[in-house]
Formats: sequence, structure tokens, C-alpha cells
Amino acid sequence: MKLEGERLKGIIDLIEPIKDPEIGISIVKLRMIDSIEEENGKIKVNIKLTVPGCPLSSTIEKDVKKVLEEKGYKDSEVNFGFMTKNELDEIKDVIRRERIEMPQSIERYEKKSIRKIIAVYSAKGGVGKSTVVKLLAETANSMGYKTGILDCDISGPSITSLFNLKERAYADKDGKIIPIIKDGMKIMAVDMLTEVEAIIWRGPLVSSAIKQMYNDTNWGNLDILFLDLPPGTSDAPITVFQSIPVDATVVVTTPQELSNLIGKKTIVVAKSLNIPVLGVIENMSYFICKHCREKNEIGSKDTKLDLPILAKLPFFNDLNAEKEESIKQLKIAIGKIISR
Ligand SMILES: Nc1ncnc2c1ncn2[C@@H]1O[C@H](COP(=O)(O)OP(=O)(O)O)[C@@H](O)[C@H]1O
Ligand SMILES: [Mg+2]
Repeated sequence: MKLEGERLKGIIDLIEPIKDPEIGISIVKLRMIDSIEEENGKIKVNIKLTVPGCPLSSTIEKDVKKVLEEKGYKDSEVNFGFMTKNELDEIKDVIRRERIEMPQSIERYEKKSIRKIIAVYSAKGGVGKSTVVKLLAETANSMGYKTGILDCDISGPSITSLFNLKERAYADKDGKIIPIIKDGMKIMAVDMLTEVEAIIWRGPLVSSAIKQMYNDTNWGNLDILFLDLPPGTSDAPITVFQSIPVDATVVVTTPQELSNLIGKKTIVVAKSLNIPVLGVIENMSYFICKHCREKNEIGSKDTKLDLPILAKLPFFNDLNAEKEESIKQLKIAIGKIISR
């Protein structure tokens, strides 16, 4: 028989303090309790998990049985089902609200054998961060530096597709994840590890994904590791800045005014976390006319930031002249990054 009213409330109150072990929020608040039944004096709790096959369901089961047992409900039963996509969408807000109030304890990882860790960042999406990460890494690699890329954008990774990588990463015998190697570069991204769909909304997973991809990955010796950061000034990029020992940030902007303004916000964020900002890469800064080969500036203003411009990259049209010029500038930028 399904419990209702005061009886239901009594049991719910007992379960309320139990948290989802991964999300860290009460399973009652997360609306994971589907129903509670009582059959011949035995309590049966039906729980909806947030992801199918959640490995932590046994912890929840144990916790629920324990609180019931303590109040004299012997031999209770816990059954698991899964939330629908709509139900998951509804609890995203709960997670957001709760997380704002939750004290954050962010683990800080060690530097490992990596000479320079450089975050490529912008508060705005679509300015070309991932493209710039790819170009910077390829340039550093071509200069003979041992190069790595870590795609820190958990909800919208793009490095895997930019490099057209099909492989999945696996762990070695010590449980360390082996990055995917492309032309000698070591690359790691969340979509090499797991189903992206399932994790988009799960805030705390940003930190556990970062842990896996940075800390639990066998990077070996690297001269330079580029981090492709998620856009925005929300939890996700800040978690990266706080947990990975970033040496410096390179900001990507486009010449548009809006992007400049956001660039400033970007710098405020980086500086507030005590991370030096090396300079700006202005992307889609000009284009070379296919017909007359004339160089045309895009937008009327230069990037107005009190920072050195490390490189100005054109809008790529597949012209060799553009590539040569860009690589020349990027080589100088890499030299500055490495020698700093
Ligand atoms: N310099 C460029 N010339 C032409 N297209 C570009 C250039 N930089 C980026 N793009 C295109 O703009 C889009 C957004 O770039 P992306 O690197 O994914 O940005 P972000 O990582 O900042 O979101 C992509 O389709 C990319 O191919
Ligand atoms: Mg990107």
C-alpha cells in the first residue's frame, strides 16, 4: 500500500538527510523518491536514479535501510528506477539553487611534469577558443615542444571533433588514463571518456571530470599543456582555474566591441584568481580577399585591452598566405609563453 499524508511525511523526514553521494544534495530535495509503500509492516522505498546504472546506488540503498532500521523498520526494501529526461531537466534548477548555497571545497592538483600549463579562455563562446587551442598546440608541436591539449569544456567539448579523433581513451594497469596521441600531441577530452549526454547538467561532475582528465591522466613529461576552457564566468571555468595549477592565461577575442567588453570581464575573472594574463589573441581579425589578395580589417576597432596582443589571426579562407602569416605570429607567441 502506498503511504500518504502523515505516515509518508514521517518516512520522508527520516530519509531527508541522505545525500546523493555524487551530487551532494539530499535525495529528497533531488526528487529522487518516487513512492514509499508499506507491506505487512515492511517499508519499500522506490527511488529514481539520475543516471541509469549509477554505481553509487548501493550506497544510497545502504543509507536508506540504515536510517529506517534505526527507527525500528526492519527488512526494508529499496528499489531503483530512473528519471525521465523531463524529470532531469526539472531538477537542474534544484541543483543550481542548492549548489550556490553549498560550500565549495575544490581540490588543487599538482603541477606534475608539465613545464607550462596555459589556459585559453574567453567569457564569450564562439570567438574561436578551440580553434586557437588547436593552432597553438600544432605550432608548439611543430617547434619540437612536447605538447598536450586538455579540453576542459565538459558540456560542449570540441577538440575531439576538431582533430577528427575517433578513439576512446582507456586506462593503463595502474588505473591512469592514457591520452589519445595525435601527431605526437597528447589529447584528452570528456567525450573520449564517457557519454556526454548524461553529464551535461550535473554540476559537481565538472570537478570530477576535471580530476579524471587532468589528475588521473598519464601526461608524462610535457613542455606545454593547453587548456581549452569552457566559456563564461560560471562555476565551470572557475573550477578549472582553481583546481589545475595554471601558469598563465591567453585570452581570445574578436575585434567586435561586444567581444572586447566580455574580454575585460574575462580578464577580471582570471586576475581575481591570481592567474597572470599573458596577452590576447585576436581571432577573425582580418581577411585576405581571395581575388585581389588585399588584407581587409574586420570591424572598425582594434581590441582595446591593456594587454599585449600575442597574435592577430585572420578569418581563414583556405589561403596559404594566411596560414604562413598566422604560424609566424603563433611561433613568436609560443616563444613568449615558454620563456616566461
Ligand atoms: N579564424 C577563423 N576563421 C574562420 N572560422 C573560424 C575562425 N576561428 C573560428 N572559426 C569558426 O568559428 C566557430 C567557433 O569556433 P570555436 O573555435 O569552436 O570557438 P569557441 O571554442 O570559442 O566556442 C567554428 O565553426 C570555427 O570553425
Ligand atoms: Mg570551444
